[in-house]
Amino acid sequence: MALLPILEFPDPRLRTTAQPVERVTSATRKLVDDLLDTMYEAPGIGLSATQVDVHQRIVVIDVSATQDAPLVLINPQLSAPEGTQEREEGCLSVPTFYEAVPRAERIRVAALDRDGKPFEMQAQALLAVCIQHECDHLDGKLFVDYLSSLKRERIRRRLSKLRRQEAAAR
Ligand code: NI
Repeated sequence: MALLPILEFPDPRLRTTAQPVERVTSATRKLVDDLLDTMYEAPGIGLSATQVDVHQRIVVIDVSATQDAPLVLINPQLSAPEGTQEREEGCLSVPTFYEAVPRAERIRVAALDRDGKPFEMQAQALLAVCIQHECDHLDGKLFVDYLSSLKRERIRRRLSKLRRQEAAAR
Protein backbone atom coordinates (compact mmCIF):
# COMPACT_ATOMS: atom_id res chain seq x y z
CA MET A 1 0.00 0.00 0.00
CA ALA A 2 1.31 3.40 -0.95
CA LEU A 3 -0.21 6.76 -0.15
CA LEU A 4 0.51 9.44 -2.73
CA PRO A 5 0.73 13.17 -1.94
CA ILE A 6 -2.26 15.10 -3.34
CA LEU A 7 -1.72 18.42 -5.13
CA GLU A 8 -3.82 21.31 -3.84
CA PHE A 9 -5.46 24.24 -5.57
CA PRO A 10 -4.07 26.56 -6.93
CA ASP A 11 -1.08 24.32 -7.82
CA PRO A 12 -0.52 24.89 -11.57
CA ARG A 13 0.18 21.16 -12.12
CA LEU A 14 -3.56 20.56 -11.55
CA ARG A 15 -4.07 22.41 -14.87
CA THR A 16 -2.24 19.75 -16.91
CA THR A 17 -4.16 17.87 -19.62
CA ALA A 18 -3.60 14.15 -18.99
CA GLN A 19 -2.47 11.80 -21.77
CA PRO A 20 -4.33 8.62 -22.76
CA VAL A 21 -2.97 5.35 -21.36
CA GLU A 22 -1.61 3.45 -24.37
CA ARG A 23 -1.30 0.09 -22.69
CA VAL A 24 -2.53 -1.09 -19.31
CA THR A 25 0.54 -2.65 -17.70
CA SER A 26 1.48 -3.80 -14.20
CA ALA A 27 2.72 -0.23 -13.61
CA THR A 28 -0.76 1.06 -14.50
CA ARG A 29 -2.36 -1.40 -12.08
CA LYS A 30 0.09 -0.37 -9.33
CA LEU A 31 -0.87 3.27 -9.90
CA VAL A 32 -4.59 2.36 -9.80
CA ASP A 33 -4.10 0.53 -6.50
CA ASP A 34 -2.12 3.44 -5.02
CA LEU A 35 -4.84 5.87 -6.16
CA LEU A 36 -7.48 3.70 -4.44
CA ASP A 37 -5.42 3.48 -1.22
CA THR A 38 -4.90 7.25 -1.27
CA MET A 39 -8.60 7.94 -1.95
CA TYR A 40 -9.85 5.62 0.82
CA GLU A 41 -7.30 6.94 3.31
CA ALA A 42 -8.13 10.63 2.61
CA PRO A 43 -11.10 9.75 2.80
CA GLY A 44 -12.71 10.66 -0.50
CA ILE A 45 -15.13 9.22 -3.07
CA GLY A 46 -13.03 9.95 -6.14
CA LEU A 47 -9.44 10.66 -7.18
CA SER A 48 -7.75 11.30 -10.51
CA ALA A 49 -4.14 10.58 -11.44
CA THR A 50 -3.77 14.32 -12.19
CA GLN A 51 -4.22 15.06 -8.48
CA VAL A 52 -1.16 12.98 -7.60
CA ASP A 53 0.86 14.64 -10.37
CA VAL A 54 0.68 11.69 -12.78
CA HIS A 55 -0.72 12.96 -16.04
CA GLN A 56 -2.41 9.84 -17.40
CA ARG A 57 -6.14 9.46 -18.02
CA ILE A 58 -7.02 7.37 -14.96
CA VAL A 59 -9.63 7.95 -12.27
CA VAL A 60 -10.86 5.89 -9.34
CA ILE A 61 -14.25 6.31 -7.68
CA ASP A 62 -16.24 4.71 -4.88
CA VAL A 63 -19.58 6.24 -3.98
CA SER A 64 -20.78 3.22 -1.97
CA ALA A 65 -21.69 3.84 1.68
CA THR A 66 -19.45 0.95 2.70
CA GLN A 67 -16.48 2.11 0.58
CA ASP A 68 -15.96 -1.35 -0.88
CA ALA A 69 -17.11 -0.93 -4.50
CA PRO A 70 -14.19 0.63 -6.38
CA LEU A 71 -14.77 1.81 -9.93
CA VAL A 72 -11.68 2.21 -12.11
CA LEU A 73 -11.92 4.26 -15.31
CA ILE A 74 -8.93 4.30 -17.67
CA ASN A 75 -9.25 6.59 -20.72
CA PRO A 76 -12.87 7.44 -19.82
CA GLN A 77 -15.07 8.93 -22.55
CA LEU A 78 -18.31 10.59 -21.51
CA SER A 79 -21.32 10.84 -23.80
CA ALA A 80 -25.09 11.27 -23.92
CA PRO A 81 -25.45 13.80 -21.10
CA GLU A 82 -29.10 14.14 -20.05
CA GLY A 83 -30.87 16.34 -17.54
CA THR A 84 -29.31 18.54 -14.91
CA GLN A 85 -28.52 18.30 -11.21
CA GLU A 86 -26.65 20.37 -8.65
CA ARG A 87 -24.96 18.87 -5.64
CA GLU A 88 -22.49 20.14 -3.10
CA GLU A 89 -19.11 19.02 -4.37
CA GLY A 90 -15.86 18.77 -2.54
CA CYS A 91 -12.42 17.83 -3.80
CA LEU A 92 -9.34 16.38 -2.14
CA SER A 93 -7.39 19.12 -3.97
CA VAL A 94 -9.61 21.85 -2.50
CA PRO A 95 -9.88 20.63 1.11
CA THR A 96 -12.65 21.87 3.43
CA PHE A 97 -14.67 23.65 0.70
CA TYR A 98 -18.02 22.45 -0.63
CA GLU A 99 -20.05 24.18 -3.33
CA ALA A 100 -23.00 23.29 -5.58
CA VAL A 101 -22.03 22.84 -9.24
CA PRO A 102 -24.32 22.23 -12.25
CA ARG A 103 -23.83 18.80 -13.86
CA ALA A 104 -25.68 16.40 -16.14
CA GLU A 105 -28.07 14.06 -14.27
CA ARG A 106 -27.22 11.06 -16.45
CA ILE A 107 -24.22 10.18 -18.64
CA ARG A 108 -22.76 7.23 -20.49
CA VAL A 109 -19.15 6.26 -19.92
CA ALA A 110 -16.87 4.10 -22.03
CA ALA A 111 -13.53 3.20 -20.44
CA LEU A 112 -10.98 0.46 -19.80
CA ASP A 113 -11.04 -1.34 -16.47
CA ARG A 114 -8.05 -2.19 -14.22
CA ASP A 115 -7.20 -5.11 -16.53
CA GLY A 116 -7.39 -2.99 -19.68
CA LYS A 117 -10.72 -4.48 -20.71
CA PRO A 118 -13.16 -2.06 -22.44
CA PHE A 119 -16.58 -1.60 -20.87
CA GLU A 120 -19.49 0.81 -20.98
CA MET A 121 -21.89 1.91 -18.30
CA GLN A 122 -24.61 4.41 -17.57
CA ALA A 123 -24.40 6.57 -14.48
CA GLN A 124 -26.81 8.89 -12.73
CA ALA A 125 -27.20 10.95 -9.57
CA LEU A 126 -24.13 11.08 -7.29
CA LEU A 127 -22.10 8.62 -9.39
CA ALA A 128 -22.67 10.73 -12.52
CA VAL A 129 -21.51 13.85 -10.65
CA CYS A 130 -18.44 12.08 -9.38
CA ILE A 131 -17.49 10.78 -12.84
CA GLN A 132 -17.92 14.25 -14.39
CA HIS A 133 -15.89 15.84 -11.57
CA GLU A 134 -13.03 13.33 -11.87
CA CYS A 135 -12.95 13.45 -15.68
CA ASP A 136 -12.70 17.25 -15.47
CA HIS A 137 -9.45 16.78 -13.52
CA LEU A 138 -7.98 14.91 -16.53
CA ASP A 139 -8.58 18.06 -18.59
CA GLY A 140 -7.03 20.32 -15.95
CA LYS A 141 -10.37 21.54 -14.68
CA LEU A 142 -11.51 21.93 -11.07
CA PHE A 143 -15.00 22.32 -9.58
CA VAL A 144 -14.05 25.81 -8.40
CA ASP A 145 -13.85 26.82 -12.08
CA TYR A 146 -17.68 26.65 -12.16
CA LEU A 147 -17.93 29.24 -9.38
CA SER A 148 -17.71 33.03 -9.70
CA SER A 149 -14.16 34.41 -9.81
CA LEU A 150 -14.92 36.17 -6.53
CA LYS A 151 -15.79 32.90 -4.79
CA ARG A 152 -12.81 31.12 -6.35
CA GLU A 153 -10.43 33.85 -5.20
CA ARG A 154 -11.87 33.67 -1.66
CA ILE A 155 -11.25 29.91 -1.58
CA ARG A 156 -7.71 30.42 -2.88
CA ARG A 157 -6.95 32.98 -0.17
CA ARG A 158 -8.42 30.88 2.63
CA LEU A 159 -6.48 27.82 1.49
CA SER A 160 -3.17 29.74 1.44
CA LYS A 161 -3.94 31.06 4.91
CA LEU A 162 -4.73 27.52 6.11
CA ARG A 163 -1.42 26.31 4.66
CA ARG A 164 0.54 29.09 6.34
CA GLN A 165 -1.10 28.20 9.66
CA GLU A 166 -0.24 24.53 9.17
CA ALA A 167 3.38 25.41 8.34
CA ALA A 168 3.62 27.64 11.43
CA ALA A 169 2.22 24.85 13.65
CA ARG A 170 4.91 22.43 12.49
NI1 NI B 1 -11.58 16.64 -7.26
